[in-house]
Amino acid sequence: MLSSWCFLPVNFHYGVKCSINYFSSMTAEMRYLNASNRDLADHFEKKLSDENGVDASIEKKTPPKLLEFTFQELKSATVNFRPDSILGEGGFGYVFKGWIEPNGTAPAKPGTGLTVAVKSLKQDALQGHREWVAEIDFLGQLHHKHLVKLIGYCIEDDQRLLVYEFMARGSLENHLFRRTLPLPWPCRMKIVLGAAKGLAFLHVGPKPVIYRDFKTSNILIDSEYNSKLSDFGLAKAGPQGDKTHVSTRVLGTYGYAAPEYVMTGHLTTKSDVYSFGVVLLEVLTGRRSVDKKRPPGEQNLVAWARPYLSDRRRLYQLVDPRLGLNYSVRGVQKVAQICHHCLSRDSKSRPMMDEVIKHLTPLQDLNDMASASYRPRPSPRGKARR
Ligand SMILES: Nc1ncnc2c1ncn2[C@@H]1O[C@H](COP(=O)(O)OP(=O)(O)OP(=O)(O)O)[C@@H](O)[C@H]1O
Ligand SMILES: [Mg+2]
Repeated sequence: MLSSWCFLPVNFHYGVKCSINYFSSMTAEMRYLNASNRDLADHFEKKLSDENGVDASIEKKTPPKLLEFTFQELKSATVNFRPDSILGEGGFGYVFKGWIEPNGTAPAKPGTGLTVAVKSLKQDALQGHREWVAEIDFLGQLHHKHLVKLIGYCIEDDQRLLVYEFMARGSLENHLFRRTLPLPWPCRMKIVLGAAKGLAFLHVGPKPVIYRDFKTSNILIDSEYNSKLSDFGLAKAGPQGDKTHVSTRVLGTYGYAAPEYVMTGHLTTKSDVYSFGVVLLEVLTGRRSVDKKRPPGEQNLVAWARPYLSDRRRLYQLVDPRLGLNYSVRGVQKVAQICHHCLSRDSKSRPMMDEVIKHLTPLQDLNDMASASYRPRPSPRGKARR
């Protein structure tokens, strides 16, 4: 029902065609979106023209316009939203694989043209509509090689869809927790460095953006293990000037949110740094941030791992057992230190993301694999023990 979709952001920059229909209960939320988006517009211009020292790959040219698709075009592009083209499902709805002609909205034959991921909003999700708006506002303007590229959107009657570049290897969550083959250590290091660069890009400058939903399912991976952040539905313009935080409703994902944010609703870029620490710990251990299937003392990953992180002798007990001895010894030590630092209970003691990048960068080339230094001890019968 169109009337249940009560608004579009007025300062859409790419000319969305739609009637604006207000509902009084939504006015406050709309005001907030418009105000924060206006602030963001300056910020993005600055981000696009700044040398920020985090990553020289930030696009400085005018970002390409978002494409507006019709529902019929996306229906054809995904072969009628065929169930076997579903890439995944999240709170927002299903994500389908599709094909479009390059540089346009026309659908292409499956396997030809440009491969895309089409996310369709569940039809009764009001929170979903807000996230759809925020996604277009943020990703329509932020461009960086470690943020997923939003190609376009569809708004037609009660349909809300988003069209993204296709990320061939799906999410980090799938690789860590669902695949049978363990993700090799060097790939883990490449993925976390890329994600750290994406987050640092958001945080840099006088008007930072707080991502608020940093987790393994929102880190997407391409065929060469480059990682990109997706899902800006919960992102928020950060504090400016003298302000130390922004106050918000507590949204995000249980197990990743910083404790002070959950308790007070005060949001800072350091809340994202905490979530980064949780993801890094998941990458190190191969365990989920919250896992109800584990014994009581092990269900909350941070609480379980904290004592090991600062204990040099015991920290190897944290390493994902699926890796065997195929991990870098120094890499594990450094990653444990970074986790410890990012997960500080005092948010001010957590590092900035550019500092995290500085520590993760040298870990890309380490080849001091544990397997190379492992000497099997002779067994009592003189045979090597495993
Ligand atoms: N651009 C993309 N390319 C390839 N696969 C994608 C893309 N976007 C999403 N996916 C797949 O679809 C899944 C669902 O994504 P979605 O963002 O909707 O939900 P989620 O991140 O799992 O959960 P949440 O709703 O909490 O964000 C992802 O985990 C990923 O496997
Ligand atoms: Mg997601």
